Amino acid sequence: MTALNPAGWRPEMNAGGADDSTTFTGNRALMLEEPLLFEIGSTETTGVDFDEDVAAADLGPLARSAPIGLPGLSESETVRHYTRLSRQNYAIDLGLFPLGSCTMKHNPRLNEKVARMPGFADVHPLQPQETVQGAYAVIHELAEWLVTLTGMHAVAMSPKAGAHGELCGVLCIKAALAARGEDRRVLLVPESAHGTNPATAAFAGFTVEDIPANAEGRVDLAALEERLGPDVAGVMITNPNTCGLFERDLKAISDAVHAAGGYIYCDGANFNAIVGRVRPGDLGVDAMHINLHKTFSTPHGGGGPGSGPVVLSAALAPFAPLPFVTKDGDRFRLIEEENAGEAHPDSFGRMTAFHGQMGMFTRALAYILSHGADGLKQVSEDAVINANYVLRSLEDVLEAPFAASGPCMHEALFSDKGLAEGFSTLDIAKGLIDEGYHPMTVYFPLVVHGAMLIEPTETESKAVLDQFIGALRSIALRAKNGDPALKSAPHFAPRARLDETLAARKPVLRWEG
Ligand SMILES: Cc1ncc(COP(=O)(O)O)c(C=O)c1O
Repeated sequence: MTALNPAGWRPEMNAGGADDSTTFTGNRALMLEEPLLFEIGSTETTGVDFDEDVAAADLGPLARSAPIGLPGLSESETVRHYTRLSRQNYAIDLGLFPLGSCTMKHNPRLNEKVARMPGFADVHPLQPQETVQGAYAVIHELAEWLVTLTGMHAVAMSPKAGAHGELCGVLCIKAALAARGEDRRVLLVPESAHGTNPATAAFAGFTVEDIPANAEGRVDLAALEERLGPDVAGVMITNPNTCGLFERDLKAISDAVHAAGGYIYCDGANFNAIVGRVRPGDLGVDAMHINLHKTFSTPHGGGGPGSGPVVLSAALAPFAPLPFVTKDGDRFRLIEEENAGEAHPDSFGRMTAFHGQMGMFTRALAYILSHGADGLKQVSEDAVINANYVLRSLEDVLEAPFAASGPCMHEALFSDKGLAEGFSTLDIAKGLIDEGYHPMTVYFPLVVHGAMLIEPTETESKAVLDQFIGALRSIALRAKNGDPALKSAPHFAPRARLDETLAARKPVLRWEG
């Protein structure tokens, strides 16, 4: 068939679906094939008409000497292109987003409303301090909540994401060791750790050593104690861990590490499972980042990057980064390099240009205040109940490796054990796309073969969970029974099985016409 080609569609762009037949537009149902801007428009045309006198005006040195090389598109063509692209994205506002470890939860609209108030949305970090006292008050109040909820001594608000917070915490540990005149080079990282933990430790110049997990999926305390010594700077431990389990031995681990002269970094990305119920400070933690975008429902990436405040023990607080907001009487002011001298002389330095992510702070504080301390307790309880509901509803069709270790925390973990010969976790993930769901986290954590990690979060109702469980159950049964159609899923998406390794290793990001 010859296609009419108003939007640059070519027959070979058709992804082929269940029956591989070519359609006129390349679309299937409402999933649109979207060409590149360069394929829609031409570099020879312009989407804008200039008045003749404007076109003829002498722009002097501002006149372009060479073509810009961008396609000229009209406003409607451009708007439609980006709107069509946005429809190819799955979003938390479309349905349950079961990614484990990522905590894709509903972002309450109240938070959005607050964040858009001009007094918060339109402030600039370089404004004179007297003109942004309200913004500083928000930062300070949120900081107080974080310190109280975690039972810690202080908090560094400036880190911009979880991994950035890890770097902040590890740099505090490094500075504290330097202040003691000690050159400890090793950071111990349990094998169930999130990948950012060893990456952060290595980036900060430490040597990373693994600590094995025990049969229950938790840190092997005896192995850890055995490895402690004068070269060990500390331990980076995730609690609840990436197998969705609470590290019951954390206090014993902290005691042992402190006795050996080290520090405890806790990856607090999963704080949403324990907020309001457990205070990491009581368990001996020295530094912990909180992904505001996970625990306190700020959108992932919305309004700029995320936000990863780091709560610190009294031992590490003196080394916290600049700048930060402090309160003098009823006024707020910034502590920066110029005035840190007396108040905060041991800071390891500055990680970011400014003092934090205002858009995330306002959303997080709105979330906290709208729940209150009791509501936050219920948040973690509901997150845990929902995950256990998923775990127990599916453990008869998918192997749950740590089901015998007791209830899970905020995420349910399954393995690929028991699938038919030749079927894998990837087939199940691809099958979920045909059912209209974004897949769960796959092949992580590495300690479980063919891992499938599902985090429903507290914001999903039982009805939504039941529908998801029904879909996943049917796919799991197809994988157990060896349904050949599952091997070529998804059938109803514009793209089916991409070479993900090639895409990651050799991304083609540039259009060459
Ligand atoms: C356990 C854990 N640690 C650290 C991170 C890194 O956080 P961020 O993506 O905000 O850098 C994540 C992110 O998903 C995580 O799940």
